[in-house]
Amino acid sequence: MSAAATLVDRIRAGGDVPRHVAVIMDGNGRWAQERHLPRPVGHREGMKAVREAVEGCIAAGVDVLTLFAFSEENWNRPPVEIGALMSLLEEYIGREAAELRSNGVEAHVLGDLSRLNPKAREAVERLLAQTSGGTKLRLNLAISYSSRAEIAHAARRLAEDVLQGRLALEDVDEDAVSVRLYTAGLPDPDLLVRTSGEQRISNFLLWQLAYTELYITPVLWPDFTRQNLFEAILDYQGRERRFGRVTA
Ligand code: IPE
Ligand code: IPE
Ligand code: MG
Repeated sequence: MSAAATLVDRIRAGGDVPRHVAVIMDGNGRWAQERHLPRPVGHREGMKAVREAVEGCIAAGVDVLTLFAFSEENWNRPPVEIGALMSLLEEYIGREAAELRSNGVEAHVLGDLSRLNPKAREAVERLLAQTSGGTKLRLNLAISYSSRAEIAHAARRLAEDVLQGRLALEDVDEDAVSVRLYTAGLPDPDLLVRTSGEQRISNFLLWQLAYTELYITPVLWPDFTRQNLFEAILDYQGRERRFGRVTA
């Protein structure tokens, strides 16, 4: 039996599998720099790790996987790097959409797609249409995503609904905010994995991560495998989630 299969057995025996795993896929640039290669080579290599994460989540029985692929702040990178990332996005979709569909993945996007160039946006829309109805894994791709922008957008929609008389001021509560976020209807992430050792959230899911367990690994994203994911899940299964209460 392979090492990965053994880890999956341990996860299955270990109790609660996280329903929702979120990942900050970080370290592509450093992976390339270590090899004296241009940064986009690291991004290309990172596509393999995306496949590992998706297939690993399906094997482990995770319901929702949210991948941070490109932040609003990443628009401030050099145009050449942004261009490379956008063509890789198209390439990833062209290469993987059919496989994602046959694996029962339903893709969604979190973020401001209006900032993408038309070709990249069309590719994303094709992916959403092609995978619609998948029941094994919901895959959220956070692209041109900023959590503060997401929350501000929800606040604006709340204000509009109150002003138009569709919502009473007394009904502005946590649920009213949650249902206006990109993640409406989804459970909050149980586990957040960040690769490359950085100990920060970088404007990712600030609302949704309130009680998420954090797992930071030094592994750089292009080197990340399903075994690394399984190790993170096993670590998570050993935690005690208290949600502010005391131990039972
Ligand atoms: C993550 O890798 C991918 C994106 C943010 C798009 P980085 O490009 O941030 O890699 P490092 O952090 O510079 O190594
Ligand atoms: C966060 O990584 C965004 C993504 C992984 C897409 P960054 O590399 O952009 O974050 P910082 O700049 O190190 O905080
Ligand atoms: Mg980075």
